[in-house]
Amino acid sequence: MTEKLTSEVKKNVLNTKLSNIYGFSEKLAEIPDLIKLTLGEPDFATPEHVKKAAIAAIQNNDSHYTATWGRIETRKAAADFLKQKYGLYYNPETELVITNGVTEAMFDTMETLISDGDEVLIPTPAFPVYYSLIDLNGGKRVAINTQDDDFLLTPQKLQNVIAKHPNAKALILNFPSNPTGRTYSESQIKALADVIANTNLLVISDEIYSELTYGRKHTSIAKYLPEQTILFNGLSKSHAMTGWRIGLFAGPADLVTEIAKVHELVTTSVMTAAQDAAEEAFGNGKDDALPMVTEYVKRRDYLSNALADLGFENHLPEGAFYIFAKIPAEYNQDSYDFCLDVAQNARVGMIPGSSFGPGGEGYVRASYATSMDNLHEAIKRLQAYLN
Ligand SMILES: Cc1ncc(COP(=O)(O)O)c(C=O)c1O
Repeated sequence: MTEKLTSEVKKNVLNTKLSNIYGFSEKLAEIPDLIKLTLGEPDFATPEHVKKAAIAAIQNNDSHYTATWGRIETRKAAADFLKQKYGLYYNPETELVITNGVTEAMFDTMETLISDGDEVLIPTPAFPVYYSLIDLNGGKRVAINTQDDDFLLTPQKLQNVIAKHPNAKALILNFPSNPTGRTYSESQIKALADVIANTNLLVISDEIYSELTYGRKHTSIAKYLPEQTILFNGLSKSHAMTGWRIGLFAGPADLVTEIAKVHELVTTSVMTAAQDAAEEAFGNGKDDALPMVTEYVKRRDYLSNALADLGFENHLPEGAFYIFAKIPAEYNQDSYDFCLDVAQNARVGMIPGSSFGPGGEGYVRASYATSMDNLHEAIKRLQAYLN
């Protein structure tokens, strides 16, 4: 674009930085025979009963626009899922909207809430799309580096940050976390909620990995702060349905009504057959994640231990499908250069920790959303590389 045309672009768009993850993955795509531990999506197939629901929808010509908030049957099934799984009570008529993935829910919410100069608190390392959305809306990123606390936000640290930023508008939480795989126990989440309850902070809580927890049940922060939380969830991770683009936002009716305006302007409504599939997944597939969880646990245990044996210290993750591991001290601590070198010379792809913001440098993110055979081969190659 010429300089003249660039000057026409809105300041906030010009100032928006995109994550280097996609650029990095493209660089790796040129490397032959690479084992990819870079993947942010399940390697499982969509459950059969869900596929059948979509096929039936297409054959029944269920192919028209729906209510902009989503078909009421789909919203009811989603609300029922949140109730049965996490004890959350959302009215599907007024408090929940079906979106094109959590990605759209995040966009709609940030566009609705964040104006120029608004401070947004965000525990880091974090999913980079949040940073970009803060930029896009002219907000100010207030990173809360959690590295010293094994990547969990402590109530004390949150309290300190709030004291320094008393006018902050929102706090973004994501648990289980991409990239760290860490999550909060019920008592930990309640302790954070107790701090937030005394403030005007809105909590934007991305709980897309809520079904992928290991050895514990997920507790939503919306359980303790229903009037202060905009909750995101969806089917991408729980039902291995990244390509179907089904997400949702839920919260207090007044706020949801405003965010739903942006949703309507962005997309009108989500693809109809995908909504039929979502009704089936939320309604009759409540435990579809269980077999995947069994498999993820085996892979997590193997990869976490094997990486630690090679000198990549890591905390055993309680959720999602990532391990956030420290680069061994004797190697280049610049995670971008390290990951590029490993990819080129060991043919193992991992994401540089620096992609996830403060607290991420010196680490790599390894995904175990890939087969056990691939994990074994990746470890063999890493071992040879390090030797
Ligand atoms: C933390 C987090 N939130 C949201 C998303 C995007 O979810 P969706 O596929 O529903 O747009 C991802 C995808 O990797 C993610 O890791």
